[in-house]
Amino acid sequence: MPAITFIHPDGKSDRVETSGGESAMQAATHHGLDGILSECGGNAMCATCHVYVDDSWLARLPDMADDEDALL
Ligand code: FES
Repeated sequence: MPAITFIHPDGKSDRVETSGGESAMQAATHHGLDGILSECGGNAMCATCHVYVDDSWLARLPDMADDEDALL
């Protein structure tokens, strides 16, 4: 089962297991993590689920979509 480690601004971290079909935002909100507000429900309109991805993982991700780039 995939897992995501969320590192908070204070340096503390939470590791959550996901179903594999949900976004990082959905995994965070489903597990009640603080700091992920999801104000637009994941519709790429508010950027409250903006994350920083470690450089070592960038090649594993798809390219940024145009709507993501425009929002950020
Ligand atoms: S919840 Fe992610 S952009 Fe709004």
